[in-house]
Amino acid sequence: MPAAPATAPAVEAVDLVRRHRQGDTVVAALRGVSLTVAPGELVAVVGPSGSGKSTLLHLLAGVDLPDAGSVVVAGVAVHLLSEDARAALRRRAIGLVFQGCNLVPLLTALENVALPLLLDGTPRSQAQARARAALAAVGLAARAQHLPDRLSGGEAQRAAVARALVAAPPLVLADEPTGSLDAASADGVLALLRGAAAGGAAVLLVTHDPRAAAYADRIVRLADGLVVAATGEAGACAALAS
Ligand SMILES: Nc1ncnc2c1ncn2[C@@H]1O[C@H](COP(=O)(O)OP(=O)(O)O)[C@@H](O)[C@H]1O
Ligand SMILES: [Mg+2]
Repeated sequence: MPAAPATAPAVEAVDLVRRHRQGDTVVAALRGVSLTVAPGELVAVVGPSGSGKSTLLHLLAGVDLPDAGSVVVAGVAVHLLSEDARAALRRRAIGLVFQGCNLVPLLTALENVALPLLLDGTPRSQAQARARAALAAVGLAARAQHLPDRLSGGEAQRAAVARALVAAPPLVLADEPTGSLDAASADGVLALLRGAAAGGAAVLLVTHDPRAAAYADRIVRLADGLVVAATGEAGACAALAS
């Protein structure tokens, strides 16, 4: 198969529908959402609580499956893969920051950040060196040996971002990565995500943070499971200038 052209989207979602059953009621979390992110692009998904942002991110990452529609990551139809194949694709191609962060509680910050590299077969000494550098990049060099419950909320969040970026994945999906950060730490994390995009990654950022949206090339607004507005680069720049 020929290599995909450089302009092919890193992720392409078409008409995603996802319903959650809760007892007798069915919540339509997504009602037909389409979205693409190109390599080098940082797209912010914004919208009120309950609008479907996390559901969308979970479908793009293949941790959840759509009831209808398709998700293609790096040319692979994620929604058609087995659970194991989806996990393998995540290890190879996706850096994930979940809402609420999900560090492994029994591993130090350094071990948490090294984990994606170790799972992908990187030798331990090399994985640790890269994890140290990734922790230093988020200002946590002095916290490498701390367990997650010995990190502040903001430090844990930054460690989760370091873990998502450590393997330089082509696709980065981050759910409210600045949610528990003060302004200076939030700017640091957003600059790191911007840097990942500058290095060629496609970055999708789910956020409430108006500051975060200002770092984006494009803003996609969700409401009640639908895309209600999308701004192009001009809109994002205008938002930055105002
Ligand atoms: N696992 C689930 N079971 C039942 N309902 C869910 C589940 N996950 C999300 N929902 C519902 O789907 C809607 C969208 O949720 P979510 O994607 O988390 O929104 P957001 O991230 O924008 O706050 C909400 O109404 C939420 O209550
Ligand atoms: Mg959410």
